[in-house]
Amino acid sequence: MHVINVKNYEEMSEKATDILVHRIHSLEKPVLGLATGSTPEGLYQRLIEEYEQGAISFKHVTTFNLDEYVGLEQNDSNSYYQFMNEKLFRHVDIAMERIHIPNGAALDLGKECDAYEHAIKQAGGIDIQLLGIGANGHIGFNEPGTPFSSKTDIVDLEKTTIQANARFFHSIEEVPTQAVSMGIETIMNSKEILLLVSGEAKADAMAKLLAGGVSEDFPASILNNHANVTVIVDEAALADPKQK
Ligand code: F6R
Repeated sequence: MHVINVKNYEEMSEKATDILVHRIHSLEKPVLGLATGSTPEGLYQRLIEEYEQGAISFKHVTTFNLDEYVGLEQNDSNSYYQFMNEKLFRHVDIAMERIHIPNGAALDLGKECDAYEHAIKQAGGIDIQLLGIGANGHIGFNEPGTPFSSKTDIVDLEKTTIQANARFFHSIEEVPTQAVSMGIETIMNSKEILLLVSGEAKADAMAKLLAGGVSEDFPASILNNHANVTVIVDEAALADPKQK
């Protein structure tokens, strides 16, 4: 695991932008794995700016998002489909047919999960997967205890995840309790992984990750077994939680 220490959220977003811009330039048909949540917003904003300045194009880019809430239609303002559209897609020249986000409102969710796995394979696999981390160590929505062999599946969200994500909804009751998430094995099959970690709410998780053990009780720990992981972490997320 290659760890890059940065000062703050802005610097983390800048470094991540540099890496993604470089991959978009160097790969003929880049396949990007994308994440939602607060962590990548600064990165997406900067990618839009790079696009507006003519530095990059998404014409040949294919994307696969990590997850989507079960039960939310694409046009629901809280869906991750809308999040991605608002934060990135509608501002750049990406082709709609190359955008992939699980459909959490599919009638047959099992089929949807299988189709998602198939689509990733058809695209030739993910070149670089962007990740955030949950305070409980989740990657995608794979909560503690998820088998490392998991593929894209319907997952139950932990109470702490529902609480953490309630900030995006009017009330906590509106937060779906399930999601469709790329599996841990699916994530691990990516050729490269870029994990962004910012803020003191992630300090505990970061300390556990750097401690180095690998256990299904702490999903992100599996990243220690991947050959090509870069972690960009800011000072607040590196503060030793025991010192507080
Ligand atoms: C998002 C995802 C989650 C988030 C994680 C951190 O698609 O799969 O694993 O990356 O919950 O969320 P933020 O960035 O909001 O702290």
